Amino acid sequence: MIELTINGQTHRLDIEADTPLLWAIRDTLGMTGTKYGCGIAQCGACTVHVDGQATRSCVTPVEAVAGARVTTIDAIGQDPVGRRVVEAWVARQVPQCGYCQSGQVMAATALLQQTPNPSDEDIAAAMTNLCRCGTYNAIADAIRHAAAG
Ligand code: FES
Ligand code: FES
Repeated sequence: MIELTINGQTHRLDIEADTPLLWAIRDTLGMTGTKYGCGIAQCGACTVHVDGQATRSCVTPVEAVAGARVTTIDAIGQDPVGRRVVEAWVARQVPQCGYCQSGQVMAATALLQQTPNPSDEDIAAAMTNLCRCGTYNAIADAIRHAAAG
């Protein structure tokens, strides 16, 4: 039995300790906003926050986050910075196919929570999530917009 606190709610899950957090979120809890891309920590589609840090949930065993505060895309709008990021994403019309975007929003929100006025270098260093549609310029633009707002 593993106890996870996700978006402020505590869940007791009957899963193996080495189950990736992504599967607990998607399969066990049915929260499909967090996406599966590569499964090997390369793409960032599965990004969630663990105690405020952007974390690739596909390679994070649930036992590593027992007792931590996990936030997913489903609740990011309840955070003032997360809400600003989502609004900037809409204002700048960032998504193309959309598949990578929940991970992008999570990465951008963690960046702005830690660095409210990021330089272009800060943005480039923090935003390592991949986008097969090539929305990188729009993402950087939306982050600047959210920082200014
Ligand atoms: S699915 Fe986790 S980094 Fe790609
Ligand atoms: S918007 Fe299509 S993969 Fe990023």
